[in-house]
Amino acid sequence: MIISINDKPCEGHVGEVLLKVAQLNKSHIGCICGGNGICQSCFVYVKEGSECLSPPGLEEKAFISDKLFKEGGRLACRSVIVKEGTIKVLSRAEYLRRIVLGLKVQEFITYAKTIGYNVTNKLPDGAGNLFNRVKAGTVSPGDSLKKIGSGLAYGSLLASTTFMETFPFMQYPVSILTEGVKGVFKSAAEVVCNVTGECLQLPGTDTSCCGINKTPVTRIGQDI
Ligand code: FES
Repeated sequence: MIISINDKPCEGHVGEVLLKVAQLNKSHIGCICGGNGICQSCFVYVKEGSECLSPPGLEEKAFISDKLFKEGGRLACRSVIVKEGTIKVLSRAEYLRRIVLGLKVQEFITYAKTIGYNVTNKLPDGAGNLFNRVKAGTVSPGDSLKKIGSGLAYGSLLASTTFMETFPFMQYPVSILTEGVKGVFKSAAEVVCNVTGECLQLPGTDTSCCGINKTPVTRIGQDI
């Protein structure tokens, strides 16, 4: 079936997670925590076809306010396609990009307030949910850090590529930015390596981005 993600037609199947569909079709939905239901960077607005997705689970209820639910808000990493039908979603990142490109200042301010309100109000629930998952052993802090590193690398590189495609005349400065992103990521990876005890590797490179641990090597940017 075809799923519209940010107005891009994407091939998806019943049983697949929405975030995975986006990644397989190179359509941008954020995934900083690597699909662990922690970061909310995969937040999307479901414009059509909410009945084709699994109902919101505990993680989504902990992190998303009633207001955002009413607007169609979901976490793409927690939304599974459960039946065939028309599904159209718009990622928060793309929504913001459109506001910024359209220079819609008032809309941006209103949106920032909504998100600020949501984050502030759901912080206790979200933190409680995370604490319970760590306590139950369903989320490992070390593994989560590793996934956050993976998601940051994937998201940063995709963001810089998208930016370059949107503003081709900025190619030279953006190539510097990409190098900068890699530099920042390398530093972050060293922290992650220290915590997880594993050796991480940047996508598109043969060499490890951290000199701390030797084996096993985990390739950053791998599928969730
Ligand atoms: S909550 Fe982090 S990727 Fe979905």
